[in-house]
Amino acid sequence: MPVTILGIESSCDDTSAAVVRDGYLLSNLIANQNIHRKYGGVVPELASRAHQANIVPVVDQALREAGITVTDIDAVAFTRGPGLLGSLLVGVSFAKGLSLSASIPVIEVNHLQAHILVHFIKDISREGSYPEFPFLCLLVSGGHTQLVIVRDYLKMELIGQTIDDAAGEAFDKCAKIMGLPYPGGPVIDKLAKDGRSNAFRFSKPVMQGLDFSFSGLKTNFLYFIRERLLTDPGFIENNKSDLAASLQETIVSILTEKLVKAVSVTGIKRVAVAGGVSANSGLRAKLEQAANLGNWEIFIPEFRFTTDNAAMIAITGFYKYIRSEFTALDAVPVARYGI
Ligand code: KG4
Ligand code: ZN
Repeated sequence: MPVTILGIESSCDDTSAAVVRDGYLLSNLIANQNIHRKYGGVVPELASRAHQANIVPVVDQALREAGITVTDIDAVAFTRGPGLLGSLLVGVSFAKGLSLSASIPVIEVNHLQAHILVHFIKDISREGSYPEFPFLCLLVSGGHTQLVIVRDYLKMELIGQTIDDAAGEAFDKCAKIMGLPYPGGPVIDKLAKDGRSNAFRFSKPVMQGLDFSFSGLKTNFLYFIRERLLTDPGFIENNKSDLAASLQETIVSILTEKLVKAVSVTGIKRVAVAGGVSANSGLRAKLEQAANLGNWEIFIPEFRFTTDNAAMIAITGFYKYIRSEFTALDAVPVARYGI
């Protein structure tokens, strides 16, 4: 009998539902919340309200596109954390309600593990290659920057992480300093394509071991721009692309240098990247280069699986389902959740 999992993701500002059958993706719907743009960041109350408005139509559409009905679902997987509590609550409550009405089990999913497991999503239109265990994963998102040894689908070991801001946060906060819209990461990426990456130099942290730090870079970027604006009010406008390219180069090299170190420390040469920042073209190019140089086997996800999506929740739910890892109906969302 095939196993069909409905995945629900609502940890931040994307409401998403996806259907996975035996590891194959049947549908993956994402409703973005544009309302946050005018505030320059995610407003938790508004996110929660938008999830409530979006969740039923998004699930309905995901089932339609998958060509199934509720009676075909074997279990509903939901993001339990980490994330915004008010946002998570909408997905968790929806999953529980569906579980009770359709008499199917629920499966809680750790959002961070799910980002990594996108590497195992199968697609009928594309037979990809999947990483063998163990492999290293650089997980870079808006809330997290971690280096992880993935020993098995659900067995992961954290070997390094940011001690302050995440890489995505560094992109977003610096973009905000430049007056660019939220989320700034993709905007910086686009601007950087026309800029010189060596136009300006920004500070890189001196961090021992495999940990990261990005708050110093953000402060350095802020003071640098403030100082230039004193003598040249048009500085940002006239140097947008160069600023973006130089900033991106700094963030990408901080990430890549640590990844190279992690490969050397662990001796693991199978390397993956995941999370929203893995959509960054500069990072993808630099990783390909590092992989060629170091003779690594590299796994870079398709763009649609980099930022938050429910396909990653459904695939994680699938691996938990086949291990009979179900969740009690009194499970509550958690804002902080280690990998
Ligand atoms: O994984 P994700 O969708 O949500 C979290 O779990 O945080 O990641 C969102 C982050 C944001 O900080 C966004 O600016 C960043 O990913 N991001 C990018 C790009 N696309 C998304 N950063 C740099 N370049 C991109 N192309
Ligand atoms: Zn995420």
